[in-house]
Amino acid sequence: MEKIYSWDNHHYYHAYWEEREQAYRQSLLFPKSTYSPWLNDETFLKTYNAVKGNTLVDIYRCYELWQIASRLKDQKAAIIEVGVWRGGTAALLAKANRDNSPVYLCDTFEGVAKAGEKDNQYKGGEHADTSVDMVQQLMQQLEVTDYHILKGIFPDVNAELLQDKTFKICHIDVDVYESAKDIFNWVWERMIVGGVVVFDDYGFAACAGITQLVNELAAAIPNAFFVHNINGHGLLIKTGL
Ligand SMILES: C[S@@+](CC[C@H](N)C(=O)[O-])C[C@H]1O[C@@H](n2cnc3c(N)ncnc32)[C@H](O)[C@@H]1O
Repeated sequence: MEKIYSWDNHHYYHAYWEEREQAYRQSLLFPKSTYSPWLNDETFLKTYNAVKGNTLVDIYRCYELWQIASRLKDQKAAIIEVGVWRGGTAALLAKANRDNSPVYLCDTFEGVAKAGEKDNQYKGGEHADTSVDMVQQLMQQLEVTDYHILKGIFPDVNAELLQDKTFKICHIDVDVYESAKDIFNWVWERMIVGGVVVFDDYGFAACAGITQLVNELAAAIPNAFFVHNINGHGLLIKTGL
């Protein structure tokens, strides 16, 4: 399949989509609503400005992560992110959680794992341009203390370390079908009622495997409420055991 994105030329990027809306049945979204609470949230903006150089995630999705973690900060369960890259979204989640509970940060630090035929762009190994040290530096800069880095393919390599934990937030940002499926299957029974699994990548044409997976899960998983946010997130909220 041809490359969907080109970041080199913004004009080209838009023109490209106008041509291809029919072919892919996808479009660039420009909602007509204007309410933008992130622009009035000084604490969020201060944190976002500190992390934005370390994240691939835009301000809309970052604000949603911030809000979810803020609202669940008093729940006694952990936060887990799989797909940390340089630590930007992880740091946002941790700051919004105010060190109230541990944050587990899982990444191969060697790039995307388990790309397969359901994935239209990713081949494996992308986003390897990071390190444990980069994430530690960001956490130190933001004075986050209760965080734990797990290096390796999750859950295959190190999930037994977290076997007995429960989670209130799981942020899955791994770009490809098989990785996301394995992570979800591991974490779902460990989510508390009211806990949220956030799928990054759901609304992105370059991540067809994630769109497929989340649609399958939304149709099949009982006791879950599914939300498609047009910022690109898919949310599965656990409503019962
Ligand atoms: C798009 S990046 C994450 C972006 C990050 N959340 C941010 O704030 O920009 C995807 C990451 O997922 C990691 N990854 C993919 N599959 C994984 C797996 N099964 N276990 C651990 N890490 C994985 C890759 O190494 C890569 O760093």
